[in-house]
Amino acid sequence: MSTSTTDRPPTATSILSLRNVNKNFGAVAALTDISLDVAAGEVVAIVGDNGAGKSTLVKVLSGVHRPDSGDIRFESRPVTIPNPTAALDMGIATVFQDLALCDNLNVIENLFLGRELRRGRLDEIAMETRSWELLRQLSAKIPSVRIPIASLSGGQRQTVAIARSLLGDPKVIILDEPTAALGVAQTAEVLNLVERLRDRGLGVIMISHNMADVQAVADRVIVLRLGRNNGEFTVGEVTPEEIIAAITGATENAVTLRTAKIDLRGVKTAQSTVDKEVTR
Ligand SMILES: Nc1ncnc2c1ncn2[C@@H]1O[C@H](COP(=O)(O)OP(=O)(O)OP(=O)(O)O)[C@@H](O)[C@H]1O
Ligand SMILES: [Mg+2]
Repeated sequence: MSTSTTDRPPTATSILSLRNVNKNFGAVAALTDISLDVAAGEVVAIVGDNGAGKSTLVKVLSGVHRPDSGDIRFESRPVTIPNPTAALDMGIATVFQDLALCDNLNVIENLFLGRELRRGRLDEIAMETRSWELLRQLSAKIPSVRIPIASLSGGQRQTVAIARSLLGDPKVIILDEPTAALGVAQTAEVLNLVERLRDRGLGVIMISHNMADVQAVADRVIVLRLGRNNGEFTVGEVTPEEIIAAITGATENAVTLRTAKIDLRGVKTAQSTVDKEVTR
């Protein structure tokens, strides 16, 4: 089953390693003694029910929130991540769920927004060349880099957002629910992309509610529950039911799982996911 990571020393191969990280919001303990490792060329999925602490963890790693205590190491060195620029400078890029793309701007403009290439004036040609290079490396199916983001599919937008985060040459990339809003074909496209990021040697942290995606692409799964580590699994050695039991805190018992309204077909995990999508 799962092993506790809390007492384990940082793994030698980890790019990013967390031990006993805590974050409180007033009386709410959002993260308690969280541990996490990600190595180069590894995809680690983080799963958990609503309120489990996934977004808070992402925000700690991307410099949006400062943890109250705990040890964070990047390439074996103790670090602090005081703000988003520090995270990027260190080599941690985050693609947030809302993607933060500008619908009215084209692909190139979105890729280089705020860091345009210039040689005196804007170097349009260099930016277009670099855009195509990047998208080709990702085998992205984007018809043109001169069309507005508004005319791209959800999967294509996700690709552009990921491509943009790669411009800073990160070592770790965090994807927050990269397939949440996508159909089947687009999800497959994004999962292929995640594999290419791993092949490039990045450490990938993927937040997901979707067991099928997790099992398709992750090497390891870390379960958060009520702000704590509640299981770590190697994909291939675990069933969706076992992961779901760790997510819900249910024992491996069909009755409890049914009570928790879990969809064992592996499409969506918890009922709360469905609720969230309905209210979105
Ligand atoms: N800025 C904040 N101020 C106060 N409480 C917060 C804040 N951000 C998160 N929390 C609380 O921390 C806990 C963890 O929330 P978090 O958003 O990290 O969960 P999550 O796993 O991302 O859930 P979801 O699947 O719904 O996105 C929750 O109880 C939430 O209410
Ligand atoms: Mg969240």
